[in-house]
Amino acid sequence: MEVRLAECAGFCFGVKRAVDTVYEQAEAGKTIYTYGPIVHNEEVVRDLEEKGVRVIENKDELLQMTGESAPTVIIRAHGVPREIHDILNQKGFECVDATCPFVKKIHRIVEKESEAGCHIVIVGDPNHPEVEGIKGWCSGPVTIIETLEEAENFFLTEEKRVCIVSQTTFNYNKFQEIVEIFQKKGYNDNIVNTICNATEERQRSAKAIAAEADVMIVIGGKHSSNTRKLYDICSRECEHTYFIQTLDDLHLELPKAVRLVGITAGASTPNKLIEEVQSYVRINF
Ligand code: F3S
Repeated sequence: MEVRLAECAGFCFGVKRAVDTVYEQAEAGKTIYTYGPIVHNEEVVRDLEEKGVRVIENKDELLQMTGESAPTVIIRAHGVPREIHDILNQKGFECVDATCPFVKKIHRIVEKESEAGCHIVIVGDPNHPEVEGIKGWCSGPVTIIETLEEAENFFLTEEKRVCIVSQTTFNYNKFQEIVEIFQKKGYNDNIVNTICNATEERQRSAKAIAAEADVMIVIGGKHSSNTRKLYDICSRECEHTYFIQTLDDLHLELPKAVRLVGITAGASTPNKLIEEVQSYVRINF
C-alpha cells in the first residue's frame, strides 16, 4: 500500500516562513511577541507559548506596553498597517517583519498609487487582518469591496484614477466579476490581480491525489474554511475521505485491497502533524 502526501499541503510559503522566523527568534533567547497569533492553529500557538512567545492581541495592548524588557515583535504573514510599524519604532522595540513578500508587494503598490493621487479599491473581506493591513498603507481615499453589489454601487464624485488590488486569498472568479463591473464603469486603468495561487495549488494537488486514491485523509481545523473546502473537493473524487483535526480523530477502516492512501492538509496545519499522520498510516496499515 502506498501513502502519498499532496504536493502542496499545509502551510503556504508565507506562513511557513513566518512560523520558522518565530521559532528561530525564540531560540535566540529573546523576549518575543507576535502581533496577533502567528497562525490559526492552537497547537502551534501553545507550543510557542511554552517557548516564551506571547501574543499582542491589538493596537491598544501594544500601546500599553513598556520597553523595559526590550522585546522583539514579529509581524505575521498577513502584514499590518504602517501605523503599527510606526508605534514599534517610537517605542524602540525591535521589529522582525515576517509579512509575506506577496502581501508586502501589495503594500508597496497601494502606498505608491495613493501617494500619486489614486483612489484605492481593495477587493476582499473588510474584517480580515490582511485587508486592514493593506488599507493601512494607503495615504488617500480607499474603498473595500467584497460583493458584486458593492461594486455596482461604487462611484466617485470627483474625477480620479482608481487602483484596484485584491486580498491574496480572494476567490479568483469573484474578483474577475467585480473587475468587469469596474471596467464597465470606465475604471480600467490600474487593475492588479494580487491573488496568491497557494490556495489554488493546494486544492489542485488535493484533487489530483484524491482522484487516484482509495482512501483520502484531510487534516485541518474544524472551523477552517479552507480545510472544509479541501474535504469537499476530495469527497467528490474519493468515496472514503476522512476529515481529521489530530491523529486521535483517525479511526481508519480501510476497505480491502487499498492501494493508495492520499493525505492533504489545510493552510494552518503544521508539518509535524502531517508527518505524524503519514507515519501512523504507514506503520499501522
Ligand atoms: Fe500564503 Fe503569502 Fe500566499 S501568506 S497564501 S504565500 S500571499
